[in-house]
Amino acid sequence: MYFLALESSCDETAAAVFTEDRVVLSNVVASQNELHTQFGGVVPEIAARAHLRNLLPVIDEALRQANITIHQVNCIAVHHTPGLVGALLITVTAAKMLSVVLDVPLIALNHIQSHIYACRMSAEKEIFPCVGLVVSGGHTAIFDCASPLQMSLLGSTRDDAAGEAFDKVAAILEIGFPGGPKLEKIAKAGNPHAFSFPRAFLKENRIEFSFSGLKTAVLYEVKGQKNAATTPPEMTTQRRADVAASFQQAVVDVLVAKSRQALHLTGYPRLAVGGGVIANQTLRTALKVMTSDENCELFIPPMSLCTDNAAMAALAVEKYHVGDFAPLDLDAKPNFL
Ligand code: KG4
Ligand code: ZN
Repeated sequence: MYFLALESSCDETAAAVFTEDRVVLSNVVASQNELHTQFGGVVPEIAARAHLRNLLPVIDEALRQANITIHQVNCIAVHHTPGLVGALLITVTAAKMLSVVLDVPLIALNHIQSHIYACRMSAEKEIFPCVGLVVSGGHTAIFDCASPLQMSLLGSTRDDAAGEAFDKVAAILEIGFPGGPKLEKIAKAGNPHAFSFPRAFLKENRIEFSFSGLKTAVLYEVKGQKNAATTPPEMTTQRRADVAASFQQAVVDVLVAKSRQALHLTGYPRLAVGGGVIANQTLRTALKVMTSDENCELFIPPMSLCTDNAAMAALAVEKYHVGDFAPLDLDAKPNFL
């Protein structure tokens, strides 16, 4: 049995074909990075139009790589929440249309939950029950994942997502977009203790994040404050590296502390992580140290399943087995469900 899954929640147009046994036959992603670079961030209208242009070629390529025709597809899966509404609508509409035309069931998925499920796909064994941490450009959230179909939100960010904070601080440091990988690179030469940036809710006993204060603290350190008595020192290569390293350390400290809290709260011995920010080596190392300290297993999928993709929508297989199908009036929902 073949599943065709579609993804267009932000700036990646993706299609994947997988089987009932979660064997991924193709995982095609068309990135729009060049389109948004000049604006320093994703422009929703441009993203939606590019999805429209890219979707059919991406589906064609996914079918070609899987060596099947569209008529062999037995089920359509789509991420319908959360994301940019104009972007989500492209694949939600296409998925509904394919479901009608091919006369196959439609399955609707939460993109964030699929990010966690990506860990199950690369693991050789069961990962549930686990704590799920999703750290991407759009989301920072921790879930209690009792089972693949029972993932409940423990807490998320009040404002910016972790990846968004990386991108905005990279813009302040004028090192380009997307900021995460560039910032990590220059942080290697910096001192993570050079600046003491804020770590929101670090000592508090609740699972919640906020990165806007951290971003503002970096802004003041780099550009200074209006009417301040002193102006900030000149931005040297070393100072830039120190700011980057200190910022990165603040984000990592908070993500690790909240993941640890969630492991204590749930009592689960496993942490599953997804989203583009887990490409960050400092974060990976810190999570490895923390989970080994807590006697817990850590699951991180390969990067092709961490960044936005449609193969992680193999969560649809779990929904298929319990007959959890979506109606044809399925809507795109920008906000977290
Ligand atoms: O999951 P993803 O590909 O797309 C979203 O759904 O947002 O994540 C992209 C985010 C961007 O904000 C990017 O700056 C960040 O992940 N990112 C990183 C690194 N690589 C990508 N952040 C920190 N360190 C990295 N090495
Ligand atoms: Zn994502």
